[in-house]
Amino acid sequence: MKIFSGNANKPLADKIAKHLNLQLSPLEITVFPDGEKRVKVNDEVLDINCVVVQPTSTPPDQNYMELFLIIDALKRSGAKTVTAVVPYLGYQRQDHIFREGEDVSLEVVIETLQKTGMDRILAFDLHSIRIPELFQVPVVHLSALPLFAKEIKKDFDLKEIVLVSPDMGGIRRIKEIAEMLENIPYATVVKNRDLNTGQINDSELNGDVRGKVAVIVDDMIATGATLVDAANMLLENGATKVVAFATHPVFAGEAAKILQESKIERVVVTDTIEVSKAKQFAKLEILSISEETAQALKEI
Ligand code: R5P
Repeated sequence: MKIFSGNANKPLADKIAKHLNLQLSPLEITVFPDGEKRVKVNDEVLDINCVVVQPTSTPPDQNYMELFLIIDALKRSGAKTVTAVVPYLGYQRQDHIFREGEDVSLEVVIETLQKTGMDRILAFDLHSIRIPELFQVPVVHLSALPLFAKEIKKDFDLKEIVLVSPDMGGIRRIKEIAEMLENIPYATVVKNRDLNTGQINDSELNGDVRGKVAVIVDDMIATGATLVDAANMLLENGATKVVAFATHPVFAGEAAKILQESKIERVVVTDTIEVSKAKQFAKLEILSISEETAQALKEI
């Protein structure tokens, strides 16, 4: 097996390679003055199983394009198979038509990845359970929930906490992690978003959080609005404090500032997406998914 990395998250690719006792294989990515890119594989890959690590996080269009070009270059150089490790899959939220006239972004990226020659994809905490079914190639769907459960067990007395899904879509995730944590109780925030603006209109709480530490678990943090809104509601409803766990630190716009200034005490994420120094903040903790990824790669 040889492992390559695009530019989106080289520290993660490095860690995965180390767990596999490998080094990253050389790849030349040229950027032309107009912003177009060109990829050249500077290693022997004929009949070799290759892995490329590239989350398609911000800027998603550039990261996707780079991924398409890397897969194409590997296939044209004779790679036996190409496994794309895309820990965060961009464009996954637009997985169906919400309003008449819209595109289905997720289907467009899946078709392009497959047409380019991707043989398998490995991703973390996909937004919906339906997503793997949309691929025609095998999908290795991993989760950060076991990592989170381990951290929660280490840091809290389970009798003192209540898990919280910050929206209805996250209930499956909350049930899964509750099972890993001796079936502790959970609550759910029901949030209503305006489909045109994306703003949260109003929310309500299902479940009892009084006197408990509320542990919110979500798949991603984009603007941070969902978490801040949920945290305020949990505290108003009697939670003693709020901590948050989310797999993907998308951190769009002012998210870092908003989270640091919020009433949330800790924000725990993973390194599916590299968080630049500028977006790191005091309350942030980053766990690595590299070991689980390497283990899954050994098993395929
Ligand atoms: C929504 O369905 C997701 O699970 C996240 O809760 C959401 O994408 C987070 O977005 P934001 O941080 O912008 O509220």
